Amino acid sequence: MAIRNILKEGDETLRKVSKPVEKIDQRILTLLDDMAETMYNADGVGLAAPQVGILKRVIVIDIRDDQGLICLINPEIIEANGEQVDEEGCLSIPGKRGLVKRPSFVKVKGLNREGEPVILSGTGLLATALCHEIDHLDGILFTDRVIPETLEG
Ligand code: NI
Repeated sequence: MAIRNILKEGDETLRKVSKPVEKIDQRILTLLDDMAETMYNADGVGLAAPQVGILKRVIVIDIRDDQGLICLINPEIIEANGEQVDEEGCLSIPGKRGLVKRPSFVKVKGLNREGEPVILSGTGLLATALCHEIDHLDGILFTDRVIPETLEG
Protein backbone atom coordinates (compact mmCIF):
# COMPACT_ATOMS: atom_id res chain seq x y z
CA MET A 1 0.00 0.00 0.00
CA ALA A 2 1.10 3.53 -0.58
CA ILE A 3 -0.06 7.02 0.09
CA ARG A 4 -0.79 8.80 -3.17
CA ASN A 5 -0.63 12.49 -3.93
CA ILE A 6 -4.02 14.22 -3.67
CA LEU A 7 -4.66 16.62 -6.55
CA LYS A 8 -5.80 20.08 -5.59
CA GLU A 9 -8.48 22.37 -7.00
CA GLY A 10 -7.21 23.92 -10.22
CA ASP A 11 -5.82 20.63 -11.53
CA GLU A 12 -7.85 19.93 -14.65
CA THR A 13 -7.95 16.16 -13.94
CA LEU A 14 -10.50 16.94 -11.21
CA ARG A 15 -12.83 18.36 -13.87
CA LYS A 16 -12.84 15.31 -16.15
CA VAL A 17 -15.44 12.55 -16.33
CA SER A 18 -14.07 9.22 -15.12
CA LYS A 19 -14.48 5.98 -17.07
CA PRO A 20 -16.22 2.87 -15.76
CA VAL A 21 -13.99 0.04 -14.59
CA GLU A 22 -14.29 -2.85 -17.02
CA LYS A 23 -12.20 -5.41 -15.21
CA ILE A 24 -11.30 -5.59 -11.53
CA ASP A 25 -7.65 -6.56 -11.76
CA GLN A 26 -4.71 -6.16 -9.41
CA ARG A 27 -4.25 -2.54 -10.51
CA ILE A 28 -7.76 -1.67 -9.36
CA LEU A 29 -7.33 -3.55 -6.05
CA THR A 30 -4.06 -1.74 -5.40
CA LEU A 31 -5.76 1.55 -6.30
CA LEU A 32 -8.51 0.84 -3.73
CA ASP A 33 -5.93 -0.04 -1.04
CA ASP A 34 -3.90 3.07 -1.79
CA MET A 35 -6.98 5.30 -1.84
CA ALA A 36 -8.08 3.98 1.57
CA GLU A 37 -4.61 4.56 3.02
CA THR A 38 -4.46 8.03 1.47
CA MET A 39 -7.91 8.92 2.85
CA TYR A 40 -7.07 7.77 6.38
CA ASN A 41 -3.69 9.49 6.27
CA ALA A 42 -5.42 12.77 5.36
CA ASP A 43 -8.14 12.17 7.98
CA GLY A 44 -10.85 12.30 5.31
CA VAL A 45 -14.20 10.50 5.16
CA GLY A 46 -14.08 9.81 1.44
CA LEU A 47 -11.90 9.84 -1.64
CA ALA A 48 -12.54 9.38 -5.36
CA ALA A 49 -10.00 8.02 -7.84
CA PRO A 50 -9.71 11.25 -9.90
CA GLN A 51 -8.43 12.94 -6.73
CA VAL A 52 -5.35 10.74 -7.00
CA GLY A 53 -5.13 11.32 -10.74
CA ILE A 54 -6.86 8.14 -11.92
CA LEU A 55 -9.92 8.72 -14.12
CA LYS A 56 -11.75 5.55 -13.12
CA ARG A 57 -15.12 5.25 -11.39
CA VAL A 58 -13.83 4.12 -8.00
CA ILE A 59 -14.58 5.60 -4.56
CA VAL A 60 -13.77 4.85 -0.93
CA ILE A 61 -15.73 6.11 2.07
CA ASP A 62 -15.38 5.67 5.81
CA ILE A 63 -17.57 7.89 7.95
CA ARG A 64 -16.13 6.18 11.06
CA ASP A 65 -19.30 4.28 11.85
CA ASP A 66 -19.70 0.54 12.35
CA GLN A 67 -19.80 -0.04 8.59
CA GLY A 68 -16.10 0.71 8.37
CA LEU A 69 -14.47 1.08 4.98
CA ILE A 70 -16.76 1.12 1.94
CA CYS A 71 -15.13 0.48 -1.46
CA LEU A 72 -17.33 0.98 -4.50
CA ILE A 73 -16.55 0.42 -8.15
CA ASN A 74 -18.80 1.99 -10.81
CA PRO A 75 -21.16 3.48 -8.20
CA GLU A 76 -24.45 4.88 -9.44
CA ILE A 77 -27.23 6.63 -7.54
CA ILE A 78 -30.42 4.71 -8.29
CA GLU A 79 -32.70 6.45 -5.81
CA ALA A 80 -32.58 9.78 -4.01
CA ASN A 81 -35.11 11.27 -1.62
CA GLY A 82 -35.53 14.15 0.78
CA GLU A 83 -33.27 17.06 1.40
CA GLN A 84 -30.62 18.01 3.92
CA VAL A 85 -28.14 20.83 4.25
CA ASP A 86 -24.80 19.96 5.76
CA GLU A 87 -21.29 21.34 5.92
CA GLU A 88 -18.81 19.84 3.47
CA GLY A 89 -15.13 20.04 2.80
CA CYS A 90 -12.90 18.21 0.35
CA LEU A 91 -9.35 16.87 0.53
CA SER A 92 -8.76 18.50 -2.87
CA ILE A 93 -9.85 21.91 -1.57
CA PRO A 94 -8.03 22.17 1.74
CA GLY A 95 -9.30 24.71 4.24
CA LYS A 96 -12.58 25.47 2.45
CA ARG A 97 -15.90 24.51 3.94
CA GLY A 98 -19.48 25.38 3.17
CA LEU A 99 -23.09 24.26 3.30
CA VAL A 100 -24.40 22.04 0.51
CA LYS A 101 -27.96 20.88 -0.09
CA ARG A 102 -28.10 17.16 -0.87
CA PRO A 103 -30.69 14.37 -0.75
CA SER A 104 -31.15 13.03 2.80
CA PHE A 105 -31.42 9.47 1.49
CA VAL A 106 -29.71 7.78 -1.43
CA LYS A 107 -29.56 4.25 -2.72
CA VAL A 108 -26.42 3.41 -4.68
CA LYS A 109 -25.56 0.38 -6.73
CA GLY A 110 -22.06 -0.66 -7.66
CA LEU A 111 -19.53 -3.46 -7.39
CA ASN A 112 -17.49 -4.40 -4.35
CA ARG A 113 -13.81 -5.31 -4.59
CA GLU A 114 -14.73 -8.91 -5.35
CA GLY A 115 -16.71 -7.68 -8.35
CA GLU A 116 -20.02 -8.60 -6.77
CA PRO A 117 -23.00 -6.29 -7.30
CA VAL A 118 -23.93 -4.41 -4.12
CA ILE A 119 -26.70 -2.01 -3.21
CA LEU A 120 -26.03 0.42 -0.41
CA SER A 121 -28.45 2.83 1.24
CA GLY A 122 -27.37 5.83 3.22
CA THR A 123 -28.84 8.71 5.18
CA GLY A 124 -27.21 11.70 6.83
CA LEU A 125 -23.44 11.90 6.48
CA LEU A 126 -23.26 8.68 4.45
CA ALA A 127 -25.77 10.05 1.90
CA THR A 128 -23.72 13.24 1.66
CA ALA A 129 -20.45 11.34 1.29
CA LEU A 130 -21.86 9.09 -1.43
CA CYS A 131 -23.16 12.09 -3.40
CA HIS A 132 -19.92 14.06 -2.89
CA GLU A 133 -17.66 11.20 -4.02
CA ILE A 134 -19.84 10.21 -6.99
CA ASP A 135 -19.85 13.89 -8.04
CA HIS A 136 -16.04 13.69 -8.24
CA LEU A 137 -16.41 10.94 -10.88
CA ASP A 138 -18.26 13.45 -13.05
CA GLY A 139 -15.81 16.28 -12.47
CA ILE A 140 -18.07 18.09 -10.00
CA LEU A 141 -16.68 19.65 -6.81
CA PHE A 142 -18.69 20.64 -3.71
CA THR A 143 -17.85 24.26 -4.39
CA ASP A 144 -20.02 23.98 -7.55
CA ARG A 145 -23.00 23.16 -5.34
CA VAL A 146 -22.22 25.13 -2.18
CA ILE A 147 -24.63 27.80 -0.96
CA PRO A 148 -22.28 30.65 -1.98
CA GLU A 149 -22.64 32.87 1.08
CA THR A 150 -21.71 29.94 3.36
CA LEU A 151 -18.36 29.18 1.71
CA GLU A 152 -15.52 29.80 4.14
CA GLY A 153 -11.78 29.58 3.82
NI1 NI B 1 -14.04 15.78 -2.32
